[in-house]
Amino acid sequence: TRVAVVFGGRSAEHAISCVSAGSVMAALDPDRYEVVPVGITREGGWVLHDGDRLAIEGGRLPEVTGGTAVSLVGDPAGRGLSVLEPGEAFGRLTDVDVVFPVLHGAYGEDGTVQGLLEMSGLPYVGSGVFASAASMDKEFTKKLLTAAGIEQGDHVVLRDAAGALTTDPAALTQEHRDRLGLPVFVKPSRAGSSIGITRVTDWADFDAAVATAAAVDTKVVVEAAVAGREVECGVLAAVGGGLPETSLPAEIRLHAGVDWYDFDAKYLDDAVDFDVPADLTPEQTAAVQEVSRRAYLALDCRGLARVDFFLGTDPATGADRLVVNEVNTMPGFTPISMFPRMWAASGVDYPTLVDRLVAGALA
Ligand code: DAL
Ligand code: MG
Repeated sequence: TRVAVVFGGRSAEHAISCVSAGSVMAALDPDRYEVVPVGITREGGWVLHDGDRLAIEGGRLPEVTGGTAVSLVGDPAGRGLSVLEPGEAFGRLTDVDVVFPVLHGAYGEDGTVQGLLEMSGLPYVGSGVFASAASMDKEFTKKLLTAAGIEQGDHVVLRDAAGALTTDPAALTQEHRDRLGLPVFVKPSRAGSSIGITRVTDWADFDAAVATAAAVDTKVVVEAAVAGREVECGVLAAVGGGLPETSLPAEIRLHAGVDWYDFDAKYLDDAVDFDVPADLTPEQTAAVQEVSRRAYLALDCRGLARVDFFLGTDPATGADRLVVNEVNTMPGFTPISMFPRMWAASGVDYPTLVDRLVAGALA
C-alpha cells in the first residue's frame, strides 16, 4: 500500500506538522506500507521530500524548503491521484493508494486539502470537508457543540453592529468586558498550537492582543478563562464501524509560574507535566469519554479527533463541570504529543494506531 504522507503547508503550524509527519512515517510498518513523503512549503509549493530532518533539534523547528516539485493530480486512468514530477514528459512518479494529510491548521486541517482529495476520489485519513472546517473554526465548533448540549466557555466573536467580522477591539463592548471578566484569552478563530493567542490580564493590553490574533486570522474570538484542570481525550473510529472508541484521558499540569499552555510550553520549554493517563475518578473518566464521543459525533468527525477539556467545579453545586475547549481533527503526532500517548496508554501502540487510521481510510 502506497501512502502519501502530506505535511508542512501554508499554516502557522507548518513546523509542528513536519514533526508530526516524521513520527507518523517512522511508525508506518515498512513491510506493509510504502511511504511517499510529500511536503508543502510555506508558500504552498508541493515537493517530494526525503522524509529526513523532521524533528525539533536544539530548539530549531523543521521546515519544508527544497525538493523536487510535484503535483498531486488526477490519475489518467481516472483512479485517484498520482504524484507527478514536472518535466518534459511530466512523467509519473508513483500512484498512491491513500493520503495521510498530517497537516495542522489552515490549508490542511480545515477542509481545504480534504476538498482536493474528495474531488479526486482518493481515500484519505481523517475527517472530511465539513467536520474539518467546522472543527477548525472555534466560533462554529462552539455553536455546533452548544446545539448538541455540550457545555462551552463564555466567549465573544468580534463582529460589528451589522454582524460582519471586524478586528476593531472596540467591538468588545464594556458590557462584554464586564461579563467575560479577566483574564481573557484572545484567539484567532482558525488556528492551532496556541499560535496567535494572548492571555490578557489587563484591558490595557487587549488591543495589542487583538492585533496579534488578527495577524493569524480575520476572525478573532475572545474567551473567558475557564477554571479547571486541563484534560484531553482521544477518539478513534472503531475497526469495522460502530461507535468510535475513546482513549483514557490525559492531563496537562503546568509547572509553577507557567501561566498557560502556550506554544513554547507545548513544544519547546520544559514547562508542563503530562499525566497519561490522567488521575481521575472512574466517573470523571467515563464523563470525559462520553462527552468526547458526543463531540466527535456532533461534528461528523471521521477517523480520529482529540477533544480538549477544562474539568472544573460548578460553584453552585460543587459538582464536576466539564467544558469542551476545542476539537482537533488532526491532533499533534509529535513524539511528545498527547494523542498517540493516550492511545498507547489505552493499549493501542503507535504502529497499531497509524495502521488503524490508514486501514480505516481504505475501508
Ligand atoms: N494543533 C496541535 C497540533 C494539536 O492540537 O495537537
Ligand atoms: Mg488545537
